[in-house]
Amino acid sequence: MTTVLYPGSFDPIHLGHLDVVEQALELFGTVIVAAMHNPSKPGGMLDLDRRLELIEASVAPLRGPGRVVSVEAFPGLVVDAAHRLAADFIVKGLRTGGDFEVEQQMAHTNYAAAGVRTVYLPCKPALVFISSRFIREIANYGGDVSTMVPPAVLPHLQRASREP
Ligand code: PNS
Repeated sequence: MTTVLYPGSFDPIHLGHLDVVEQALELFGTVIVAAMHNPSKPGGMLDLDRRLELIEASVAPLRGPGRVVSVEAFPGLVVDAAHRLAADFIVKGLRTGGDFEVEQQMAHTNYAAAGVRTVYLPCKPALVFISSRFIREIANYGGDVSTMVPPAVLPHLQRASREP
């Protein structure tokens, strides 16, 4: 069985992320979802513990025979997480050409720096518009994001949006 690392900020985890986890499970069997600390991404909404809790609640229904998902927090570099957790590959979801540009550069850099390969998975067409950034923005103004996030996430976004 192949083990893949799916890194991200997951602030919050959304249905596009879950689609990638589902595809990765189907293809590889074991997926480690790693919530990374990313200091270059200010303006976050949920703290790390909450993000981990919501990732765990959201991926739990995807587990089954031959489908192993674990959830980890990791500071620092994705390639260090991949080595530490003995992942065979990094997995990333692609929504748009813009994602490809960014991910391609990161994939080449991660391979050059640490010999870790990246596999891209295309996001389900119905979900390509979903982004954590816009979910945070909409939730912050009290808008409805119920079609974009797993049910467990919704109450926490609403709560976060009411905090000063
Ligand atoms: O969900 P995001 O915010 O797009 O995830 C991006 C993430 C966390 C995977 C990215 O910022 C990242 O890789 N951070 C760790 C730092 C790192 O490994 N940098 C080198 C990239 S080539």
